[in-house]
Amino acid sequence: MPAFVRVAAVSELPDPGKTLVEVDGDLVALFHVAGRFHAIDDVCTHDGGPLVDGELADHTIACPRHGAKFDIRTGAALTMPAVRPTRSHEVKVEDGQVYVRLREHGAANGPAAHAMPTAAAAAAASAATTSAASDVSPTGTASTAGGVATAPGGPPASGAAATGEGLLGRPLSEEIVREILKEVKDPELFVNIVDLGLIYGVTLAAAAETPAKQQISVDMTMTSPACPAGPQLIADTKRALGRHADVAGVEVRIVMDPPWTPDRMTEAARDQLGIF
Ligand code: FES
Repeated sequence: MPAFVRVAAVSELPDPGKTLVEVDGDLVALFHVAGRFHAIDDVCTHDGGPLVDGELADHTIACPRHGAKFDIRTGAALTMPAVRPTRSHEVKVEDGQVYVRLREHGAANGPAAHAMPTAAAAAAASAATTSAASDVSPTGTASTAGGVATAPGGPPASGAAATGEGLLGRPLSEEIVREILKEVKDPELFVNIVDLGLIYGVTLAAAAETPAKQQISVDMTMTSPACPAGPQLIADTKRALGRHADVAGVEVRIVMDPPWTPDRMTEAARDQLGIF
């Protein structure tokens, strides 16, 4: 098990306050809020954003990149686009010094079991409190735009399940297109792009060279401008729709205005993500 590492003096970090520290080579965001210290990985689980640079409000830190919020006490992801917790670490305060012990990768984030050092122990300068977060010792002082492509056909790739034969056999319409697109899933969230609210528009038009077939245009947004899943979602959309025999081509336009917000998700998507 890793050892506790001294990272700061209590007096060095105001309350409320936050700072970046290094523990055994890992970057850790250290917080001082309401008299207690908390430590979590300085890594947003959406796309690696530096959490310590975000806005701290009460016990919540907002990722500066796309706004996902995390609970600094437990590392829990509170809002989209992050859905996985970041690691929280054990903290203790001893003799006016703050110590952090890294939690092992893969270990469950523990609850913030606070324990205040006793006055007697503090007076003896020997009391130590070990917890997922630690109180200040009483002796402590103040403490894409424009992604356009056309391509029909091709087998489904990862993220696009095999299109149902029933849908492929039905005449093309906007409704059928949206049903087919439900088979394309965000590779990070494992929720389909229709229920996520990423599809802003679908238009069908007779193909210029093969009027019996349809040219499909899909206006798609991303949960964030720098969404790393963007290229895969575009490719999977084209592959999924391109399997329909009546499709001559598929154009995917990335639209970032209006920006995606979590309230665009359907109830089904919320249920899947455990958001209520
Ligand atoms: S990197 Fe943090 S919300 Fe996207």
